Amino acid sequence: MIRLGVNIDHVATVRQARRISEPDPAWAVALAELGGADQITIHLREDRRHIQDYDLDNVLAVAKVPVNLEMAVTDEMVQIACSKKPFIVCMVPEKRQEVTTEGGLDVVSRLKAVKTATRKIKKAGVRVSLFIDPDTDQVKAAKEAGSDAIELHTGAYAHAWNTPAAAKELKRLHEAAVYAYGLGLSVHAGHGLNLLNLAPIARLPHIEELNIGHALIGRAIFVGLKESVAQYKARIQEALAGS
Ligand code: PXP
Repeated sequence: MIRLGVNIDHVATVRQARRISEPDPAWAVALAELGGADQITIHLREDRRHIQDYDLDNVLAVAKVPVNLEMAVTDEMVQIACSKKPFIVCMVPEKRQEVTTEGGLDVVSRLKAVKTATRKIKKAGVRVSLFIDPDTDQVKAAKEAGSDAIELHTGAYAHAWNTPAAAKELKRLHEAAVYAYGLGLSVHAGHGLNLLNLAPIARLPHIEELNIGHALIGRAIFVGLKESVAQYKARIQEALAGS
């Protein structure tokens, strides 16, 4: 079975639209777990546009499943990860003007900084994953940086879905997954996944975990969070069963 990491950032996005106290991402933790979430994922951005520092504390206090903290490779974030100790940290690139994470972390060109951050975070007893494009050089660099896992960026695949370009993106993801697994890295994937496009990703070799946010939370507006998570869990199960 593949783990489903539910990204609840957008609950905080709605709250921050008014900068008041609701909806609270901590409520989302309980409902996501009731729907079958295997992990809760939150991104503490440097600009604090959605998740706040107190959300990280609250989510860590209430979550019964592991918490995955997405963060930029900065001294501030490394210090937060080392003191708060989520189950796993996923290091991502961050640009202030972007609407969401664009492209993977360039581990090749930032190897020294990523390696140092990885060493510090692992020393604190926290697992490390790196969010990278499906590129063998990036996978190799992730291994060299000492990470435990990679999260393959599925954004280009999701963007190309239902067009001839999707097959090429899927092939890149397939090759990167096989290569990473061969190096002993755990393989996760995420970004832009929804109920329509996730099956081919779930069927890639060696995928252990999918992290899904926008489409799942968007669906929750209409069907409720517990039901939305359950539908995603069921879709993953169906995909693995071959339908
Ligand atoms: N994985 C990572 C590393 C991300 O940065 C994001 C977006 O926050 C996701 C997965 C989830 O992407 P989406 O919101 O498109 O499902």
